[in-house]
Amino acid sequence: MIDGRTQLVGVIGWPVEHSLSPAMHNAAFEALGLNWRYVPLPVAPGLVREAVRGLVALGFRGANVTVPHKQSVMSALDSTTPEAAAIGAVNTLLITRGPDGATASGYNTDARGFINALRRGGFEPQGKRVIIAGAGGAARAVVHGLLAAGAGQVTILNRTVERAHRLISELGDPRLAAQALTPESLVTAADGAELLVNTTTVGMWPDIQESIWPAGVPLPSHLTVFDLVYNPLETLLLRQARKSGAQAIDGLGMLVEQGALAFEIWTGQPAPSEVMRVACERQLRSGR
Ligand code: ATR
Repeated sequence: MIDGRTQLVGVIGWPVEHSLSPAMHNAAFEALGLNWRYVPLPVAPGLVREAVRGLVALGFRGANVTVPHKQSVMSALDSTTPEAAAIGAVNTLLITRGPDGATASGYNTDARGFINALRRGGFEPQGKRVIIAGAGGAARAVVHGLLAAGAGQVTILNRTVERAHRLISELGDPRLAAQALTPESLVTAADGAELLVNTTTVGMWPDIQESIWPAGVPLPSHLTVFDLVYNPLETLLLRQARKSGAQAIDGLGMLVEQGALAFEIWTGQPAPSEVMRVACERQLRSGR
């Protein structure tokens, strides 16, 4: 029951109506018997500063931040963690109140969420050679997570190769390299790698018949393939991987793990990640 003591969090984004986060977090609050609620908060581009002020004024405890506000929200905050500053994006806000007023702090849980999901999938990135397909916002968090977790070599393959070059020159880490993403370059690079991460939107609903991997070519069976796409849960890329005897990890794990970290920042309690995953799967199955 919502009453006068209910604590509020939510997600600011545009659009937010397909977000799985309300179902995921409300299931977690219910499982732990917490009088908290998580609401979708549609915030049009350009209004993020007003939205943060509104959350502070309305007594919200925090929020998630999603597309297109992850970068623009940073200038509206009182502080950001060094990790979020290094990634250049905030996906979680914590609002704290004291005698001197309220402060809004920005965190990024995407990079650690990715690494936690990878490890839960049975892959330890320390010292490994990794290929990342894509160089957009999702790739940034993944690359940061992998470098922080001690990956040995990270090659970014992107359709627009300049974007991959920009990303690696900005990060300035000798373990990074950039290449153009083509079927041929991907197949060649995969031979010398232990992990392939798809951060592109290729294969996402409704284009479920698409894959970055060429049809009819088996993937190396020693490879682990992590697809950030979670709608559908089993992408064509992951089907190709499984058929070739490679390990396949779906993108829901990262959504759940970044959410679990946000939950812990807000509530100070360990998140029930299994409950959260089940809630997301149910929501995906119901067709949203
Ligand atoms: P996100 O924040 O989810 O990473 P984004 O910043 O729009 O979203 O990045 C999308 C990524 O998917 C980019 O790497 C994009 O490649 P470009 O930089 O060349 O645009 C990649 N992408 C999208 N559609 C693609 C396609 N059909 N083939 C290959 N890469 C694609």
